[in-house]
Amino acid sequence: MTVRRYEAGEVTVLWDSSRCVHFAACVRALPDVFDPRERPWVRPAGADTEELMAAIRRCPTGALRYERRDGEPEPAELEATIVPVPNGPLVVRGLLHVLTADGETVARETRLALCRCGGTGNAPFCDGTHHTNHFRSRVPAPSEARQRAASPDDVAAPQELDVPEGGAV
Ligand code: SF4
Ligand code: FES
Repeated sequence: MTVRRYEAGEVTVLWDSSRCVHFAACVRALPDVFDPRERPWVRPAGADTEELMAAIRRCPTGALRYERRDGEPEPAELEATIVPVPNGPLVVRGLLHVLTADGETVARETRLALCRCGGTGNAPFCDGTHHTNHFRSRVPAPSEARQRAASPDDVAAPQELDVPEGGAV
């Protein structure tokens, strides 16, 4: 089990070690609460509930989440944003529904980081392996063939892509 829970009065803090890449956004936001040298490393008493939730929402990978006692979900922008982190994952925010190729729900979340180095052990999420496999992102220019293309046939041979249609929403 990779998810640990920390009770904090009006909320429960959840931390998923399989998705933490140690960006340390949480540590910078609330060093009295999030201290990786301590065990437990989350000490919710060091902040009030609003501060705690705001700091958790800064976690780009979704490794840190919270559950409110009143059941209110974490707020999310309707317009999702996707940001490629140089030499790292795609950081995604918004009302997100991640599916497997079979259409099974993997996650319904507001923040997550998707692997783009191909090395993660926790697909489709980034698990920090890009750091140890020395992934280097690049911004490729379109090939000359693509720039000349006047039809899909000029781009590539036809291919079958088994894309699930929205899954069980
Ligand atoms: S990934 Fe999230 S939980 Fe892990 S160190 Fe970064 S901000 Fe904190
Ligand atoms: S981009 Fe982080 S593990 Fe692949």
